[in-house]
Amino acid sequence: MNIAVISYSYTGNNEALAGSVAKELSAEHIQISEPKTRTMGSIALDMMFSRTPQVQPAPKTLGNYDLILFFGPVWMGHVAAPLRAYLKYLKSHPQRYGFLSISGGADGTNPKLGGELRKRAGAAPAVLIDLHIADLLPNSPKTARKDTSAYRLTDGDINQLTHTMMKTIEDVI
Ligand SMILES: Cc1cc2nc3c(=O)[nH]c(=O)nc-3n(C[C@H](O)[C@H](O)[C@H](O)COP(=O)(O)O)c2cc1C
Repeated sequence: MNIAVISYSYTGNNEALAGSVAKELSAEHIQISEPKTRTMGSIALDMMFSRTPQVQPAPKTLGNYDLILFFGPVWMGHVAAPLRAYLKYLKSHPQRYGFLSISGGADGTNPKLGGELRKRAGAAPAVLIDLHIADLLPNSPKTARKDTSAYRLTDGDINQLTHTMMKTIEDVI
């Protein structure tokens, strides 16, 4: 099966996890970057005004895969803005896809993700996994946002989260 792992990451967590899952799957790993410097201010503006920022590589260069696994953070309850151009591309060039994330989880689950993905990509994801940093921390579930946002995954976390994700991914490949 021809699988691509495509990741966007602001502080490194999702990129590290995506790299580990891509290795397990022997899949190509494409890392999305932005020509413009990302700031907390531009995160807030993109999320508030539902903007689709420019990204590299451009989605139109995307090949055909049996499954595309997108990795990225959840921002303000939504899929991080830099993945939007890819989701939009799938609407006109449908491919089976999934969204996987290690998000903060300090305020609980992110219930809008499934609906947002369907709307942006034009089809439901084959797999949707939103794991939470709050569950990795000892005082969960009372963890504060500032704790989850500052947290960087350890090698042990990455192994554990990869294992958890692989159990679900194996059901759809
Ligand atoms: C501006 C901002 C908003 C966030 N909003 C959420 C949120 O709504 N839900 C959530 O679970 N995590 C939220 N987070 C936490 C990130 O999803 C989490 O820190 C993630 O691991 C970062 O991934 P990255 O290192 O790949 O960028 C937010 C983080 C930032 C910076």
